[in-house]
Amino acid sequence: MKTAALSQTNMAYVDEGQGVPLLLVHGFPLDHTMWDAQIAALSRGTRVIAPDLRGFGRTPLAPGDAERGISMEAYADDLAELLDQLSIREPIVLVGFSMGGYVAWQFVRKYGGRLRALVQCDTRAKTDTEEARMGRIKMAECVAEWGSGRVAEMMGPKLFAPETFMRKPEVVAAVRAVVERTRPAGTAAAQRGMAARPDMTGLLPTIKVPTLVLVGEFDAISPPAEMKEIAHAIPGAEFVVISHAGHMTTMEEPAMVNNALTNFLNRVHKQ
Ligand code: MLT
Repeated sequence: MKTAALSQTNMAYVDEGQGVPLLLVHGFPLDHTMWDAQIAALSRGTRVIAPDLRGFGRTPLAPGDAERGISMEAYADDLAELLDQLSIREPIVLVGFSMGGYVAWQFVRKYGGRLRALVQCDTRAKTDTEEARMGRIKMAECVAEWGSGRVAEMMGPKLFAPETFMRKPEVVAAVRAVVERTRPAGTAAAQRGMAARPDMTGLLPTIKVPTLVLVGEFDAISPPAEMKEIAHAIPGAEFVVISHAGHMTTMEEPAMVNNALTNFLNRVHKQ
């Protein structure tokens, strides 16, 4: 991985291939490795940039992040700064997954002029229920004591389609390993940030770039019905359901996701 010195952190990122830049933003509490299959396939025709967000993978937190929380806007600011560091001035294709999608909404709002197209995978535009918000704060307060193994146990059952547990135990094990090695302070910072994130449904009708909305058939965290509403609210957005997948579409059904992304990118390049 390479490293970029940003104002808040030294951001670790993968940068492979050449062509239109494609920025892949991972979910919680994960890192860029959730995109391994997409990096391998898509870097043949595009420049794929896949960072570890602040506090995840190899990107350290800034002092006080765990206690203060990192807003979705602040993660988006880090991404804009990364593009500046890489001297990328041309419009990019932004691909957000789940928490990476919450970050992507902020990027659209603040840096929309830097976008060529948008892909939102397994994410939400609404805020949490009060119960879910309290759950996030509880995890932020307790994760140092619990350890990341407990986070993996809490989240694991919600991340996959039922058949993935049976047919692809190696995928379940790979995700679990990433969650277990995520630093508790990174988890706390992100949970506080997600708990405070604003409702972004008002942004959707204003999005002008070509958009693909993609979701796993059995996604229990960002359900297909809710993602379909997102797609309907964004003018001209395409909506693709990845069959047999739960929340972790990119790892559960990488070939189908790569296919959907490649088809979308081909259409965008022709426009
Ligand atoms: C994710 O996959 O990024 C998380 O499940 C998002 C969330 O906790 O809302």
